[in-house]
Amino acid sequence: MERTFIAIKPDGVQRGLVGEIIRRLENKGFTLVGLKLMNVSKDLAEQHYGVHKERPFFPSLIKFITSGPVVAMVWEGDGVVASARKIIGATNPLSAEPGTIRGDFGVSVGRNLIHGSDAIETAQNEIELWFKEDELAAWKPTLTPWLY
Ligand code: TYD
Repeated sequence: MERTFIAIKPDGVQRGLVGEIIRRLENKGFTLVGLKLMNVSKDLAEQHYGVHKERPFFPSLIKFITSGPVVAMVWEGDGVVASARKIIGATNPLSAEPGTIRGDFGVSVGRNLIHGSDAIETAQNEIELWFKEDELAAWKPTLTPWLY
């Protein structure tokens, strides 16, 4: 089953949006298989955002993501990588559609609340980076027959 990595960033945690964000992913029908509240080390942040190393916003991005606890999650379900990206919305919250998490709750690209893997391969790498195998719990929701 397809999996994606989702992280509620420090602004999402501090604004009390953890429950709201989890609710949206649960309501859609995805299954939570990993969840932890954690402080992010500079090393982990730099590895996670390594692709942006040369960008001008990189230092402020690392400072922001290490500034307070993050909720790291793994979600599972058919098409979850692309679907979660839709639920999250565009990178810049001012361009994100209403109804998306960033569109409903954000105004600034530097405070856009949530991260979601952008492709299946990225998701696999990010899950490996953030979680140990024994921190993930595969389970079959009894509602599945009604969803698929
Ligand atoms: P990116 O991977 O392009 O976006 P997304 O999170 O939607 O996959 O960028 C990673 C993060 O970097 C983004 O969530 C917020 C931050 N960022 C900036 O602060 N300024 C920028 O101009 C961009 C493009 C991103």
